Amino acid sequence: MTTAPLALLPARNLAGALRPPGDKSISHRYALLSALAAGRSRLSHFSTGADCRSTLACMAALGARVRWEDETTVAIEGRGLRGLQAPAAALDAGNSGTTIRLLSGILAAQPFAARIGGDASLSRRPMRRVIEPLASMGAQIAAADGCPPLAFSPAAGGLRPLHYRLPVASAQVKSALLLAALYAAGETVIEEPLPTRDHTELALNECGVTLARRRRSIALAGPARDWPGRDFRIPGDPSSAAFFLCAAALFPEANLLIEEVSLNPTRTALLDLLRRLGAKLSVVSVEQRGGELCGSLQCGGSQGGLAGGDIAGAETVALIDEIPILAVLATACRGGLRFRDAAELRVKESDRIAAIARNLRALGAECEEFPDGLYVPGPQTLRGARLESCGDHRIAMAFAIAALRADGPSELDDPGCAAISYPEFFPLLEKLVER
Ligand code: S3P
Repeated sequence: MTTAPLALLPARNLAGALRPPGDKSISHRYALLSALAAGRSRLSHFSTGADCRSTLACMAALGARVRWEDETTVAIEGRGLRGLQAPAAALDAGNSGTTIRLLSGILAAQPFAARIGGDASLSRRPMRRVIEPLASMGAQIAAADGCPPLAFSPAAGGLRPLHYRLPVASAQVKSALLLAALYAAGETVIEEPLPTRDHTELALNECGVTLARRRRSIALAGPARDWPGRDFRIPGDPSSAAFFLCAAALFPEANLLIEEVSLNPTRTALLDLLRRLGAKLSVVSVEQRGGELCGSLQCGGSQGGLAGGDIAGAETVALIDEIPILAVLATACRGGLRFRDAAELRVKESDRIAAIARNLRALGAECEEFPDGLYVPGPQTLRGARLESCGDHRIAMAFAIAALRADGPSELDDPGCAAISYPEFFPLLEKLVER
């Protein structure tokens, strides 16, 4: 369902304070692990995004009791590792790649059959990356052309452990395999080509599951024992904060306080990059919650202008969700920004490389597209334009920020798709901008 277009006006500055929604990646993981717990968990500051609602709905369909105490606090009565029930109908992951891929690791191990699918965008996304390693563990998964919907049948004799080197750096695939490993008798070892976000490892550790983490590998000895439910407050989402961090970097006088955001080192590459480009940024407080770092940031623009540079390899992996907004920031950087090793962007909620290039060109900006990335020269002036969300939350939000820097009014189709990760985004942006 698409929403009515939204008019976006240029801005002069950005100032104020915000608390981004609970982190999407951590919310998904705690929703899954709470549904597998033996007992009751209470998750506060849970993501308000539709994606994490999809995970909760799937776990409710598998027998967990999910009850909202308020808009961001959810109580989950878990079924224990071996207590899930066969769903009455196909599970719906909506737009959420994290839901379908992580849940695949759990469904592969169940003694019942299940199907899971999602919306048109999810139905085009590659699933062989989870199907193939799970099949090597003995999972029975059918999918037409390697895309959703996926049909799971019980694995005869249960899952076997696996030693696997991920061909693509993917936290979703790593997590699916770790979840499946909970049910396999023996040690599963997963090697990563480059580091990816480690929220699954930290959350499993909090549940009392023993993991051996080495430089680039994780070993988990299954089968795991039940863990009790627990209360956890989810740190804010740095990939949602990214839109405001980069917006602040665009205005020399900007001053934003971003509260309670995840400072997990696998998620802070944007902070390092913004400092390198010359933006003002300081961490004003830090705390630890269940192995996850969380704190508040003060940020603003750069008096001397922003520098440019190249982003490739491990830095691209660490910034993968931030590249749409960074491509917008690039238009204000001296020399622009060049993104390489980012072919994964072509198989996200949209082909993000194509979506970024199309919108930049609509704004009158130049850019060069590569199979695995793009080069956005800078500084460039932007003109008001008709912007396209491409049904992708991060494209919608990134180009809403671009419109603040344009020389005239813009219009964004389907702003509602921001609700996938950040339903409060547009009203909040309006509160923070100065015209
Ligand atoms: C995520 C991992 C990343 C990221 C996605 C969330 C996660 O995907 O882009 O938004 O929560 O594990 P990949 O694992 O496909 O790189």
